[in-house]
Amino acid sequence: MVAVVAVVAGSTLSGCAVGEQAEAPVVPASADGSVDAQLVAGRTVWVGSCARCHGSAGGGGAGPQLNGRSVLERFPTAASMESVVRSGRGGMPAFGDRLDRAEIEAVVAYTRTLLASP
Ligand code: HEC
Repeated sequence: MVAVVAVVAGSTLSGCAVGEQAEAPVVPASADGSVDAQLVAGRTVWVGSCARCHGSAGGGGAGPQLNGRSVLERFPTAASMESVVRSGRGGMPAFGDRLDRAEIEAVVAYTRTLLASP
């Protein structure tokens, strides 16, 4: 029998993110124990494509803070926010060719629900 020891190098490289202490909030289970699949998918996109610039918990970094209520005032509808993510704006890259429609809707739902709400 061969013992396989997997050594996982704990990488702490955080790209351009600032204030990386806080983790991306985990989607909570609802009262019946179910978890919203769209929000879970959105968190995966967030961690993989957005957190390095906007901070894991949306506190900001190379990109603006997304975890305040003011973001919901600037973007009263999810569609208006999805359009920035799809097409980009200034230093914000366009994700329309990297993420599909469902992924963009999911990540925007995640930021609006888990980051921007009180
Ligand atoms: C390379 C860094 C970078 C990445 C990666 C990035 N953003 Fe951004 N984002 C920015 C910058 C910079 C801005 C400010 C754009 C401007 O100049 O108006 C911004 C702006 C935004 C805005 C508008 C905020 C406001 O208050 O007007 C939203 C929404 C947003 N990003 C969401 C996302 C989402 C969702 C992702 C992941 C799919 C993401 N961003 C990935 C850098 C980034």
